[in-house]
Amino acid sequence: MSLQLPVSDGQVRLRHLRATDLPVFAAYRADPKVARFQGFDPYTEAQAAAFIARQATAAVPAAPGSWLQLAIADAADDQLLGDCALHLYAHEPRIGEIGITLATRWQGQGLARQAVHELLALCFGQLQLHRVVALTDVRNLPCVALLESAGLRREGHFRQNGWYKGEWCDEYQYAMLGAEWAARQ
Ligand SMILES: CC(C)(COP(=O)(O)OP(=O)(O)OC[C@H]1O[C@@H](n2cnc3c(N)ncnc32)[C@H](O)[C@@H]1OP(=O)(O)O)[C@@H](O)C(=O)NCCC(=O)NCCS
Repeated sequence: MSLQLPVSDGQVRLRHLRATDLPVFAAYRADPKVARFQGFDPYTEAQAAAFIARQATAAVPAAPGSWLQLAIADAADDQLLGDCALHLYAHEPRIGEIGITLATRWQGQGLARQAVHELLALCFGQLQLHRVVALTDVRNLPCVALLESAGLRREGHFRQNGWYKGEWCDEYQYAMLGAEWAARQ
């Protein structure tokens, strides 16, 4: 199954990454502040180019067990603002995990909130997922605020659940059910 991405009527839209995104994508993925609470280290330009090449024609959704990475673009001029990700669990593809990254200059303006809304609409609308999960480092306060503002429920505090940047990190698990999404619409 591969779906067309819905057209957004907000300030941001989700679309596939494309080769022309490379300068912006490489710049924010090389920013240590952006990578601080993420599983990846700052990217080189070659890593960024290879990443975009892999994702530019990816199916929506990706095969269970693989990550789909989509561009978050300005709906007015299509410039790249950041990216978001969806991973359907291999053992239960009706459950998805999401992630989100914005370039520093676009943070703190409510754009991530809109992008999460678009991603959840895709997950619970076209993809008809049962449950969507998001994990965040407990120290990542903007991400905690974002997930709570988007209506996800904090379900757990996982002690030293991830090895990032040379240390074990505590993570919160957030989630939303399809029924909870429907009740909010
Ligand atoms: C996580 C991230 C996407 C959040 O983006 P953002 O631009 O702050 O999000 P928004 O502007 O849409 O704000 C979402 C909510 O968080 C709040 N918020 C934003 N920055 C905040 C901060 N520094 N501290 C507390 N709350 C904050 C906003 O007020 C808003 O709440 P509201 O809708 O109730 O007003 C962004 O910080 C980022 O890309 N970080 C680097 C990558 C990363 O760590 N990703 C998460 C990996 S798990």
